[in-house]
Amino acid sequence: MGSIFAVKIAKATIPEFLAWRETWPGSVVGTLLTATVDHKSADYVKPSLILMGNEQQGLPPELAAACDVNVKIPMRGRADSLNLSVATGIMIYTVTG
Ligand SMILES: C[S@@+](CC[C@H](N)C(=O)[O-])C[C@H]1O[C@@H](n2cnc3c(N)ncnc32)[C@H](O)[C@@H]1O
Repeated sequence: MGSIFAVKIAKATIPEFLAWRETWPGSVVGTLLTATVDHKSADYVKPSLILMGNEQQGLPPELAAACDVNVKIPMRGRADSLNLSVATGIMIYTVTG
């Protein structure tokens, strides 16, 4: 609780982000339900930047296309997707491991 006050937050349009993304030295990782790469099998170059989609529409196609790799977290049962915060926690654990 309160961590949001301890981290830097930036807001950008998609074009602004795409221009800035060119300067990122590590992997840019998209998370997509349609991805075919398992999140555990991708090669992540540190520092990794993870792009998460929103709950309604997921990651916009133009952002997914700008990623070095798009990955999926396998799911059991009939769930069609994970909760955004749960998926974010799994991805942070994965890329920093
Ligand atoms: C609730 S999901 C979005 C569902 C949205 N209706 C869609 O079709 O993409 C919210 C975000 O969590 C991430 N996410 C959820 N489940 C995932 C999974 N199994 N693999 C990868 N990313 C996942 C993705 O970033 C997704 O955009």
